[in-house]
Amino acid sequence: MKVTVVNGSARIKGNSHAIVNALCEGFAEDAEIKSYELSKMTNSGCLGCMSCKGKTERCIIQDDLTPVYEEIHESDVLVLASPVYFGDVSGQAKIFIDRLYHLFAPDFHDGFDPEGGVIEEKMRSYSRLKRGVKFVFVTSQGAAMEDMYADIQGRYPLFFKYLGFDEVYSIRGLGDPIAFPEANRMEDALEQARELGKRLSF
Ligand SMILES: Cc1cc2nc3c(=O)[nH]c(=O)nc-3n(C[C@H](O)[C@H](O)[C@H](O)COP(=O)(O)O)c2cc1C
Repeated sequence: MKVTVVNGSARIKGNSHAIVNALCEGFAEDAEIKSYELSKMTNSGCLGCMSCKGKTERCIIQDDLTPVYEEIHESDVLVLASPVYFGDVSGQAKIFIDRLYHLFAPDFHDGFDPEGGVIEEKMRSYSRLKRGVKFVFVTSQGAAMEDMYADIQGRYPLFFKYLGFDEVYSIRGLGDPIAFPEANRMEDALEQARELGKRLSF
């Protein structure tokens, strides 16, 4: 099993990394795991140039993210982890997500129904991604309340499905143990991550 891990937190000893480590502990011993730290990489934002809808099937920007996007096509699982910053993913994680746009084939708008909705299975047919790639989306937030920032895990996984990831799993780290020691629920997230790692192993 090949796993690509992309981390959008610069805190190597922080919560997103702790959850990802627990997930990786759960993976089978022979899993090939490659990890990338977005904070240490050059990563320019999407230009909206639409080259990926004409000239090329890939993102035209050449930087440290280029080989990572290539690697997704060889992977069984993509893990993206991010802290919650001002109610959303970190800037680094957002750049990574925006440039996944190249996975949509040029005519992907045809996947939308006339009333503006999206038919998931139809959308899938406009993806350039091979079938069967799974996505694990990890977020970590200071607030311990489940309903705070739940929209992040409500919105992005839908887009990941439209992009062609066949199964999308979410793990939320609630309550930063340093900021809110009395309210922290990180242990729950670590346990969920270990279990999911085992479940995804084959
Ligand atoms: C710039 C910045 C913005 C933040 N914004 C939020 C926020 O909107 N909501 C929240 O619950 N926590 C917020 N936090 C706290 C982090 O989400 C929290 O500490 C998280 O667990 C950090 O993850 P990490 O250790 O993986 O970096 C913010 C922290 C920083 C540095």
